[in-house]
Amino acid sequence: RPRVLSGIQPTSDSFHFGNYLGATRQWLGFQDEFEPFFFLADLHAITVEQPDPKVLRKRSLVSAAQLFAMGIDPERSAVFIQSQVPEHAQLGWVLQCLTGFGEARRMTQFKDKSAKGGEGASSVGLFTYPILQAADILLYRPQYVPVGEDQRQHLELTRDLAQRFNTRYKKAFRLPEPYILKETAKINDLQAPEKKMSKSSSTPGGIIFLLDEPSVSAKKIKSAVTDSEAEVRFDEEHKPGVSNLLSIYSALTGDTIEDLEKKYAGQGYGSFKGDLADVVVDFVTPFRARTLELLEDEAHLMALLESGAERARAVASKTLADVYERVGFAAPF
Ligand code: TYM
Repeated sequence: RPRVLSGIQPTSDSFHFGNYLGATRQWLGFQDEFEPFFFLADLHAITVEQPDPKVLRKRSLVSAAQLFAMGIDPERSAVFIQSQVPEHAQLGWVLQCLTGFGEARRMTQFKDKSAKGGEGASSVGLFTYPILQAADILLYRPQYVPVGEDQRQHLELTRDLAQRFNTRYKKAFRLPEPYILKETAKINDLQAPEKKMSKSSSTPGGIIFLLDEPSVSAKKIKSAVTDSEAEVRFDEEHKPGVSNLLSIYSALTGDTIEDLEKKYAGQGYGSFKGDLADVVVDFVTPFRARTLELLEDEAHLMALLESGAERARAVASKTLADVYERVGFAAPF
């Protein structure tokens, strides 16, 4: 079976709707015909300061619980914590040595993420982060990498590095394809709908966390920024707020945007937002309960993750051995 791989950073107490609709929901669909590898990117998490080790460790578990609660099946998918598979960091080094400085510099996420404190205040890890991501991916030789739009550039770098390695050392890597669903590739901030929903930059009212109290999420939907037109119509340029809500509504219910436009024609925003708030509450209420239930047995969660890491290592160690051999490192003993 062809493989699929993706990762998510365990950097907050809950995933948000951008993570879910943009990425992890698509992961579910790969469990039947693919061999999936999904991981919590804790190595990536420390590219910015994580002040409390206990919190980081706990967030990896909370993240795993959320993946299982949304339907990732530990039997069919290898779910693991990145730091428990040392091959990621090891291949990362080799790929760093194949990456040009200018090439790394072109990554727009570094520019965005270092904008606040300034480049000088950022870690080198934040700068080389996309190269580690390339290693995450290439170790498993996946066909698809399901992600949101903001990861597209990292996928392009990954393909460039794979190609470079293949030319220089003979073919070792498969060129992975990004799997980015157009409709939900970029879910926006509810209060600033021209910007993406993001744990680092969104205002509290602009971001809906899956583990928020359902009543809090409903309130956020009802107070989302729209426009003065009072017409439920999809138009990203002129009506970014309404369009964002339509995207979320459509993704959660399966109704097409056109159907929704018809349904709310001539009604203003009140009932549209109220219904969407109900849809969101119906989704997050059982999700939250399942996640909290899974978190009652941390030992069991950890055991699932360790068995996921074992399955991952079986693949990753082979790829790394192959790479080390081609590069000219001494044979293992
Ligand atoms: P992260 O943790 O920031 O986000 C996880 C996934 O959620 C998607 N996403 C969004 N999609 C739509 N709209 C949004 N507003 C939104 N916000 C986030 C992201 O595109 C991502 O798919 N570098 C990655 C983690 C990573 C990874 C990998 C991913 C590390 N190694 C290897 C794939 C393959 C990241 O920081 O995602």
